[in-house]
Amino acid sequence: MSRKVPIGVLLSGGGTNLQAIIDAIEQDRLDAEIRTVVSNRANAYGLTRAGNHNIPATVIDHRGHASREAYDQVLVEHLQRQGVELVVLAGFMRLLSSFFVQSFPDRIMNIHPALSPSFAGLHGQRQAVEYGVRFAGCTVHFVTEGCDEGPVIIQAVVPVRPDDTEETLAQRILVQEHRIYPHAIQLYSEGRLAIEGRKVRVTGEDGDAAGESALVNPPMPGTVR
Ligand code: GRF
Repeated sequence: MSRKVPIGVLLSGGGTNLQAIIDAIEQDRLDAEIRTVVSNRANAYGLTRAGNHNIPATVIDHRGHASREAYDQVLVEHLQRQGVELVVLAGFMRLLSSFFVQSFPDRIMNIHPALSPSFAGLHGQRQAVEYGVRFAGCTVHFVTEGCDEGPVIIQAVVPVRPDDTEETLAQRILVQEHRIYPHAIQLYSEGRLAIEGRKVRVTGEDGDAAGESALVNPPMPGTVR
């Protein structure tokens, strides 16, 4: 077992990714300890999920702060006070200031419901449906000062079906989010992630794991599914 990395989870909503992380820890698939869950919204269900597992959870409302920096300063102080090493963004609907990003250099992760660099920003799933792509997915990446554009750690791909709506595609992507986010944090915990410029090198990665076979959608006649 590797060390337990102290993490802080920031969210604004339902917290299903938080739940996946909690489950992975409880099932010994993830060597991490959630020191704090922070929401900028008092009604976020993620706070209840934390409470159900006796994880300290706090509301730090973004309203009433003089600037984005002023708010981020309060957040950073809180996270540092809890001894957080890795900040995990799990549906936190706020852009981070440079001050925040520089306070945790190479130690902030985010999950984005699209295959970066496609469809950055809000509603990645809706953007994919409207664009008409045949594959969509999700990306866990380190956070830099740009939006959804930091070095990519892991991605999962799902097909887009002809009758998909934003909601059905989001649900299919979410299943994969819950698989890859805890795994990405575990790779960090094992010290296996090295940022080299734009890229993340994963120590011990099996270069052949993805195989040589391509995915094609819609399937072609004779294609093995
Ligand atoms: C997910 O789709 C995630 O990719 C995005 O925000 C959503 C959060 O969902 N960043 P949940 O709160 O974890 O259920």
